[in-house]
Amino acid sequence: MNLRLSNIGRKMNEKTGVRAVMGDIQEVLAGGERQYINLSAGNPMILPEVSSMWKSALASLLEDEHFPSIISQYGSSYGTDELIQSVVRFFSERYQFDIQKENVLITAGSQQLFFLAVNSFCGVGSDSMMKKALIPMLPDYSGYSGVALERDIIEGIPPIISILDDHTFRYELNREGFLERMRTDPHIGAVILSRPNNPCGNILSAEHVVFIADACREANVPLLIDSAYAPPFPAINFIDMEPIFNDQIIHCMSLSKAGLPGERIGIAIGPARYIQAMEAFQSNTAIHSSRLGQYMAASVLDDGRLAAVSQNEVRAYYRNKFTLLKETLHCTMPKDIKWYLHKGEGSLFGWLWLEDFPAADAELYEQLKANGVIIVPGSSFFHHEIGHMPHAHQYQCIRISLTAADEDIKRGIDVLARVVKEMYEQKVM
Ligand SMILES: Cc1ncc(COP(=O)(O)O)c(C=O)c1O
Repeated sequence: MNLRLSNIGRKMNEKTGVRAVMGDIQEVLAGGERQYINLSAGNPMILPEVSSMWKSALASLLEDEHFPSIISQYGSSYGTDELIQSVVRFFSERYQFDIQKENVLITAGSQQLFFLAVNSFCGVGSDSMMKKALIPMLPDYSGYSGVALERDIIEGIPPIISILDDHTFRYELNREGFLERMRTDPHIGAVILSRPNNPCGNILSAEHVVFIADACREANVPLLIDSAYAPPFPAINFIDMEPIFNDQIIHCMSLSKAGLPGERIGIAIGPARYIQAMEAFQSNTAIHSSRLGQYMAASVLDDGRLAAVSQNEVRAYYRNKFTLLKETLHCTMPKDIKWYLHKGEGSLFGWLWLEDFPAADAELYEQLKANGVIIVPGSSFFHHEIGHMPHAHQYQCIRISLTAADEDIKRGIDVLARVVKEMYEQKVM
């Protein structure tokens, strides 16, 4: 029968961009006909110390006299008092940032947080103008396009490419391009960025963040800083960075990469005017996040274990994986190919750029799949800004996950090096 979907229903059902690739990846991996080396997954590794921290938090809760009311009663749409007070205490003490409970919202994961924020601040407004969410430096998390209820809401500024050595590059913020867009385009409703960045691991400097926040203040729009990989948890940063709080920033955190993706906990800290709008939206759409997860989170935030385990275990684990990826690429990739790995500053991924690659990233994805290796093609992280990048750069990149076992990273890169060499050679002949 013909399914009659609304425009929003259709948009949410579309398998375009990264959803198409992710859908394909899931089908391939679920097929079970052959074994694949999966270098695509965003699923975090289950680390023993992290797992035992959550297990003991849950065990204490099971003994708690309040347990029945924790799981059997509804609560506030801002989040539980316990977790909100813990967040206020922890962040005020650690960063000397003056926050109250009105500045905190607990959401059902940070994906939900971005859903609430993007659709509260972007889309058609009372002035009938379609407001967009602007990414100051592409590439960035493809999931932002998915959360918008209307099409083509996410736009971005192409980066400046800086080559650091024979095999390392880094994206730099195009400050002038960003500022000009902010000052001339009345259609910007919010600015959004991940720091550390998914997919490339770039960490924007504090000075750049303040510069972006100042432009947002001038335009009177919020700056959403997606801190899914940032310190103090999960702390997957390999260079120094601190979170930045001010009156224009909504600081968005997630417990997923600190071992709790199943409980769906996102945390926003920001100006009360923005938090209140998002709380109303959450109250209508989800009521609140899992209360069990929130109580577990409050206990490990209070006793300091969440920050300690993140810094000592989670960060160290992924930093070692990045080093392994880099060394394996250096040993394995063909010498006559111009390849560059983005400087490893943080996150769960390596981002590889193959300059002058003779085919598109989607073709490389297919060839690797045929050879038993799954990666994520890079172009969807450029959202629909694809026509504006120089030299087809957005089709020359792939994302490699650091969540695989060491042996799989080595074998996967071996296959990648062989397939890439063959594809360059076929083109030359
Ligand atoms: C940059 C970024 N932001 C947000 C999310 C969503 O995370 P969650 O909804 O599990 O908190 C992810 C998930 O991988 C991510 O990579």
